[in-house]
Amino acid sequence: MSDFEPRITAFVCNWCTYTGADLAGTSRLHMASNVRLIRLPCTGRIDPLFIVKSFERGADGVIVSGCHPADCHYSSGNYHARRRFAVFHDIMEFIGVDPRRMTFSWVSASEGAKWKDVVNEAVSNVRELGPFEAYRALAPEAPAGEADPAPASTEAAS
Ligand code: FES
Repeated sequence: MSDFEPRITAFVCNWCTYTGADLAGTSRLHMASNVRLIRLPCTGRIDPLFIVKSFERGADGVIVSGCHPADCHYSSGNYHARRRFAVFHDIMEFIGVDPRRMTFSWVSASEGAKWKDVVNEAVSNVRELGPFEAYRALAPEAPAGEADPAPASTEAAS
């Protein structure tokens, strides 16, 4: 059995998914601990370049998640994001990234259980694919002490 523990970066909107992820935590739901959250005001703020940079900086997979359609705090940010990522998804293979390394989802503030499922499924998919090394050589050297340590285990505190 491989010791590979995927590193997953999750870009989440402040108003829905971040709160849903917090709910999953406070509800003590059991989920993989491989995900590092980056909270942004809205999915409409997420530039696809952030995803490419994540892969450069050591991510093996990326999750993008925000409010359900029609629930965006800024009215239409998630519609912009949906269009942007539909296009980005199509060019991923062209730029050398297996699209299974990316997960796009809608998770509301009351959907802690759904967030748990999104995380567990993304980690499972990326674990199957193995480490993603292709972009790491492109990243500039991280200053000493800034490297993100690999997750220690998939077991969440319960
Ligand atoms: Fe959540 Fe726009 S505020 S997607």
